[in-house]
Amino acid sequence: MSIAYMKPMLKTAQNGNYGVAAFNMIDYNSARAVVDGAQEMNAPVIIQLSVKTIKLWGFKPIGDWVRSLSNDVDVPVALHLDHCTDLDVIRGCIDAGWTSVMFDGSALPFEENMRQTKLAYDVATSGGVGLEAEIGAIGGTEDDKFVSEDDAILANVDECIEFCKNFPELAVFAPAIGTAHGVYKGEPKIAYDRLKEITNVVDIPIALHGGTGLTGDQFSRCISSGCAKVNISTMHKLQFIEGFTALKVEKPTLGEPIPFISAQYDLMKQGVMEMISLFGSEGKANKV
Ligand code: 13P
Repeated sequence: MSIAYMKPMLKTAQNGNYGVAAFNMIDYNSARAVVDGAQEMNAPVIIQLSVKTIKLWGFKPIGDWVRSLSNDVDVPVALHLDHCTDLDVIRGCIDAGWTSVMFDGSALPFEENMRQTKLAYDVATSGGVGLEAEIGAIGGTEDDKFVSEDDAILANVDECIEFCKNFPELAVFAPAIGTAHGVYKGEPKIAYDRLKEITNVVDIPIALHGGTGLTGDQFSRCISSGCAKVNISTMHKLQFIEGFTALKVEKPTLGEPIPFISAQYDLMKQGVMEMISLFGSEGKANKV
């Protein structure tokens, strides 16, 4: 199947009360684990990229990897750009075959965020791809961005209404609701009431950032309140490392690299399948 568009995928998930898992891929092996895990679960899935990862591999190799993996399966695989503030990177992704992109203006004052999001919205819309945009400030570390607990700000409901009125064709909206990127240090303080207040007045599917470390119950509550895209980056990255290092500890003298690549793949694929099962998207591939 050719690379899928994220917007219809998420609208169907929102209407069907399940979440589509979005994993931040690292390399070809990790993309392969995501696509194969989704295929085994017969689930739609999103592969997304942090800007740093694109800078390492380049637009074209990533586009080619995901296209060829997607062509080999019969589940929908969308290719998405995660948090980005640079319109040139957004254009590069669209040219290389990404089907959606995120512009993250959340560090800017609200009016300036809207002004710059409009530029990205126009680039995405004229390129025929979907856009994700964020307001409020999600805590934690993602790519090169760090937001401390004190600086994390819940999205304001009136601002959500105004923002989304200006961007009716958003593929997915990312209001900060108390979750955080990276490993949680204490109990996550998810603002379920705020999420409900937002989804009562905004009909765009919501992206749940900071998925690593949340429980099944926390995922379910967020998904049943309108979160249709669930982001998992840290868990996938840790499994990429753990798959390799666990085998190294078990067989310290092993000098053949392929078993290490297989161990990474197996662990990441298992994580992908567990998340798909938790988010309720198993068996939903044909709905999109
Ligand atoms: P985690 O760091 O919790 O996996 O969150 C990922 C994310 O939201 C990417 O945008």
